[in-house]
Amino acid sequence: MKFFLDTANLNQIKEANSLGILDGVTTNPSIMAKEGIKGEDKINQHYIDICEIVDGDVSAEVIATDYDGMINEGEHLAKLHPQIVVKVPCTENGIKAIKYLAGKGIRTNCTLIFTVGQALLAAKAGAAYVSPFIGRLDDISSDGNVLINQIIKIFGYYQFETSVLAASIRHTMHIIQCLDAGADVATCPLSAIKGLLNHPLTDKGLEVFLADYEKVSF
Ligand code: E4P
Repeated sequence: MKFFLDTANLNQIKEANSLGILDGVTTNPSIMAKEGIKGEDKINQHYIDICEIVDGDVSAEVIATDYDGMINEGEHLAKLHPQIVVKVPCTENGIKAIKYLAGKGIRTNCTLIFTVGQALLAAKAGAAYVSPFIGRLDDISSDGNVLINQIIKIFGYYQFETSVLAASIRHTMHIIQCLDAGADVATCPLSAIKGLLNHPLTDKGLEVFLADYEKVSF
């Protein structure tokens, strides 16, 4: 399973990259706004800066909601850097735009997926990725884990080439659930990835090893 970082924060991207486990980055308009990146030129440059840190796919989302606007923006974003994957919301115009962009050889990530039906339409249109939002479903007492499992099972039946990118991951246990379901990618906050490292027996074991070493070292 690949790890993407769900942020536009360059320091966090550098930190995750330095761990040697980073496979890509996802952004969205809220994530970009959180970093205070304003204006088209700055936003475009920020996408390029991210691509230059990580060796992998970087999702950049269209803002337009009409078909012509989506394909124009998508073509523009794709030209910024070969690692850019155009993120398109799962709407009727979005599905049409994914089909058009796929025909032009432009990879897309269909975002805001909350049902198996939405994932199916995006895959049939030729999306490179579908992004089911686990955390936002869990937030409303629905089960994001059920959705991930269903999408992976159904994509397996029909052998879609679309990768399942588990999104809206809030914590480490979500990552474990995605691993168990067989997700192709999990896009996560850095804290959730680092949480995978933690176990009190590791800390305690290391403490004892070092204390024992001290007893015999001169
Ligand atoms: C990723 O592609 C999504 O934009 C992101 O995971 C959304 O996460 P959130 O629900 O924490 O905003």
